[in-house]
Amino acid sequence: MLLHIPEVLSPEELGQIRQALAGAAWQDGRRTAGNQAVQAKQNEQLAPDDPAAQFARQLILQALDRHPLFFSATLPGRIFPPQFNRYGGQTNTYGDHVDGAVMHAASTGQRVRSDVSCTLFLADPDEYEGGELVVNDTYGRQALKLPAGHAVIYPSTSVHRVEPVTRGHRVASFFWVQSMVRSDEQRRLLFDLDMNLVRLRQEHGDSTAAVGLTGTYHNLLRMWAET
Ligand code: NI
Repeated sequence: MLLHIPEVLSPEELGQIRQALAGAAWQDGRRTAGNQAVQAKQNEQLAPDDPAAQFARQLILQALDRHPLFFSATLPGRIFPPQFNRYGGQTNTYGDHVDGAVMHAASTGQRVRSDVSCTLFLADPDEYEGGELVVNDTYGRQALKLPAGHAVIYPSTSVHRVEPVTRGHRVASFFWVQSMVRSDEQRRLLFDLDMNLVRLRQEHGDSTAAVGLTGTYHNLLRMWAET
């Protein structure tokens, strides 16, 4: 499932993060690419222990924690500490690739299986030309370029790329979620059920049917979730 998660960051948080990243020490992104990805990757990243990255990461993790749509869609078990990349100038693209299956976070020593990939846009679309995230989804190819502070999630199994940035800079945060529900199909069913329950409650309040179906949601989650 590919999903746009609007307004992950408040305008204040976005401002603080952009200010912190503006003066940060960007490095060649190929340092952290695997064998296949290194051929395709031409961007810049911040080192995981960069102070600006650490500051921004905390704000993003807090923001994700309170976002109901992010929770419902990803059912996070573990979240890889968000990282930061920048595309522009000579390092402006990342060709077709699939993200590695297991990510090792040096800062926490934790391994995170990548079930869901996430890009959180930190630059507005009018600040750069190109730079679309192109994801080959089961429904076809989708090209995304979202407002700053908005995120997109998509299955980590998808082939995806970032189109060349021909003007300005595209700055984003990226990370992976190991979901409590490993199967994309099961996660999608739970998400659809949850969203329709929200609508049912809005239209009819906490009816007997809504209470019963909420029970069904939790019983499915209980059957499928690993914590
Ligand atoms: Ni990727």
